[in-house]
Amino acid sequence: MGEPMTSELAALGAEATRGHRDYGAGALIVCDRLVRIYTAEGIEVQALQGLDLLIGEGELTALVGASGSGKSTLMNILAGLDTPTAGSVRVAGHDLAALNARQRLAYRRGTVGFIWQQTSRNLLPYLTAAQNAEVPMRLAGVSRRDRRARALELLDVLGVAHCAARRPDQMSGGEQQRAAIATAIANRPKVLLADEPTGELDSATAASVFSALETANTALGVTVLVVTHDPAVSTMVRRVIAIRDGRTSTETLHHVDSRGRHAVEYAVLDRAGRLQLPREMTEPLGMRDRVRLEAEPDHIGVWPDRPRAGTPGDEAGDADQ
Ligand SMILES: Nc1ncnc2c1ncn2[C@@H]1O[C@H](COP(=O)(O)OP(=O)(O)O)[C@@H](O)[C@H]1O
Ligand SMILES: [Mg+2]
Repeated sequence: MGEPMTSELAALGAEATRGHRDYGAGALIVCDRLVRIYTAEGIEVQALQGLDLLIGEGELTALVGASGSGKSTLMNILAGLDTPTAGSVRVAGHDLAALNARQRLAYRRGTVGFIWQQTSRNLLPYLTAAQNAEVPMRLAGVSRRDRRARALELLDVLGVAHCAARRPDQMSGGEQQRAAIATAIANRPKVLLADEPTGELDSATAASVFSALETANTALGVTVLVVTHDPAVSTMVRRVIAIRDGRTSTETLHHVDSRGRHAVEYAVLDRAGRLQLPREMTEPLGMRDRVRLEAEPDHIGVWPDRPRAGTPGDEAGDADQ
């Protein structure tokens, strides 16, 4: 008697597995229910709590979120410097949880480049900007002549050609970060990760660093993921993803059309159908604990759970306001 039931379950199981494997097919960065739990002095901190994220090749995306929301934890995992407690993460086809030490090193040298907030962490202090940009290529075995030429070309494209022969202590913070971008993309990585690269800079300098990230994206074709606190930066980016409590919560897409530039806000709908509504929207309406839903042909209405004026179906109770 179990026969048909069993095969049906097996088919369902196969279906679920297939759905799971296909998640993010075609995306360059795929985070699937990422969890990262830190244990420090017996206390557990859930820095990432089932984070889903898809980034396509060639995108420039900003990540925003309150301090402690898990942004750096995510960046460190994508950089191959840390591994998730659970969930899976794939970058350019590499399953980051499955890399051995040698593959991990190759991944960090060849597939991703990164820039940190602390300018001092990005460049070697005793080398010039050009020498810094040559280091990754030297490790990759590029000939002296080729790496010299590429280093100078990158510094030029990123607007810091005049710093080629300067050491970091002879450069401004913004110049150091732009030289750091040249260094990070010297080996033509697929992805450039920047964790608050403008955090230590004033806003004018921040704009120049940001435009260097844009250049890396548009002129050199690198997919860029940048964590930023700077509201000015986040409005310059087409896609801004907000992280809240270790999960992606909302997304803002900036569209440009004949009427100009405008922002459209989206919420992330995960594969279980979970939707997180932004507090700025729910609080003014007194929405909490549960909300009332109404399916419409082309949208879903969400209302506060208040006693309704009429019965379902009559005018007062049905009013769309
Ligand atoms: N190495 C660590 N050990 C313990 N807790 C950590 C560690 N790194 C980060 N955390 C905690 O994880 C949470 C997320 O941190 P983080 O990813 O740095 O957030 P963000 O970059 O968004 O400010 C915070 O509560 C932080 O205190
Ligand atoms: Mg951080």
